[in-house]
Amino acid sequence: MKRIEITELLNNGSDHIGKIVNIKGWVRAFRSNRFIQLNDGSCMGNIQAVIDFENIDESILKRVTTGASISVNGELVASQGSGQAFEVQATDLSVIGDAHPDDVQKTVLQPKRHSLDFLREQSHLRFRTNTFGAIFRIRHAASFAVHKFFNDRGFNYIHTPILTGTDAEGAGEMFRVSTLDHKQPPLDEKGEVDYSKDFFGKQVNLTVSGQLEAELAALGLGKVYTFGPTFRAENSNTSRHLAEFWMIEPEVAFNDLNDNMDLTEDFLKYCCKYILENCEEELKFLDERSAKEQAQKPQNERNKLGLIESINFVVDNPFKRLSYTEAITTLLNSKHYKKKKFQFPVEWGVDLQSEHERYLVEKEFNCPVILSDYPAKIKAFYMRVNDDNKTVAAMDVLFPGVGEIVGGSQREERLDVLQSKCEEFNIEKDELWWYLETRKLGTVPHAGFGMGFERLVMFLTGMSNIRDVIPFPRTPDNAEF
Ligand code: 4AD
Ligand code: MG
Repeated sequence: MKRIEITELLNNGSDHIGKIVNIKGWVRAFRSNRFIQLNDGSCMGNIQAVIDFENIDESILKRVTTGASISVNGELVASQGSGQAFEVQATDLSVIGDAHPDDVQKTVLQPKRHSLDFLREQSHLRFRTNTFGAIFRIRHAASFAVHKFFNDRGFNYIHTPILTGTDAEGAGEMFRVSTLDHKQPPLDEKGEVDYSKDFFGKQVNLTVSGQLEAELAALGLGKVYTFGPTFRAENSNTSRHLAEFWMIEPEVAFNDLNDNMDLTEDFLKYCCKYILENCEEELKFLDERSAKEQAQKPQNERNKLGLIESINFVVDNPFKRLSYTEAITTLLNSKHYKKKKFQFPVEWGVDLQSEHERYLVEKEFNCPVILSDYPAKIKAFYMRVNDDNKTVAAMDVLFPGVGEIVGGSQREERLDVLQSKCEEFNIEKDELWWYLETRKLGTVPHAGFGMGFERLVMFLTGMSNIRDVIPFPRTPDNAEF
């Protein structure tokens, strides 16, 4: 008999009522030795299977334990109990895979509330919980929304390399990739490791951004985006950083910084709206979950809006746009500053810390903020220098609860300016010859940005630790699974 998915029975039950159906799934709970809650991953909800004792042997029922996988045949009927519209009258049941209660006891399959830390240690099993089922369904939907947004607007998806010889962000936070024998590497005359003998004949690392290659593609295809894994060896063990994360990087020829801000805002709103419209059940579950979590915090640390409210808020309200210089003035004039409540200094030229960003988003403006025109010294070499010669056409989008969700800029398209920026930032021009050459051959203004996909998923699920929105997080000292 052909298996039918539980989502089909729960959502279109009236099409199947009175028929014998086959369902397969994992036992979430078995109550009174009679009522099985079965989940097959096709949706959040479980279907109830009610045991018909005349047809099902006692010895089989003993093996129906939480976590076990089973196959059930029976008639779909209107449920007599409350809480569900339909249920299956199980007349035939077989165990596919046993789960012994002693083994289940030690795991997150045990049906009770588990800490997120414990769930993370069991990333191999957490997909079977309601919370992570909801998170990863939303993650999927968000990635689909990303592709749909760009495809509908005529962008080309470009697969930029994961192995590169460049440090696009100039931050030096790269994982080296090498096939040299690290106990006895070949050395050059200076006694340094001779990477010309390495696999690629040069030093190669895992990419920190696909931007530079995306720029090349945009300067021919016009509108492109990347969506791929990105690696940063920054040793920051925070709730917002991963060593391996996914980034979306659109790049558009002929766009300036303002066009770039408009694209970012449309894009973020689109993704939010898509999830509101397509993940109602998951959002409702996570909304209740985060409300419970918020209730345990002190009053002044609670979010003002619930999860669904905060996503709606982003869709319905314009983002606040202001320059870095204006942001510094705002911070200096704040009561918070005057009462010396910021830990880090506030003055023109410093990099904003997350306490400053959070203050602007959560206390001052109460909405997403786009900050632009940062001091050149604190931003990457490729950002276009403004007429004041002090700032660059950069932008960061700051979101409530998440902080920086997007970083981008208009790119420096003038060869001479770009060359002197390379010198200033100690970037070997020989290594970027291909990048520089595009500025000699029909250069045009262009702009783009990078969105950290996990930061978006954090916002859409209300999860406060980035490790809980990627299936298998990689962070310092942690690469299990
Ligand atoms: O601001 P970043 O470093 O910008 C770039 O990489 C540019 N090349 C993007 C571009 O203009 N095409 O990173 C972009 C975004 C950040 O705003 C943040 O959301 C995310 O990537 N991000 C991280 N997410 C998780 N873990 C990390 N370690 C991250 N580092 C950056
Ligand atoms: Mg940034």
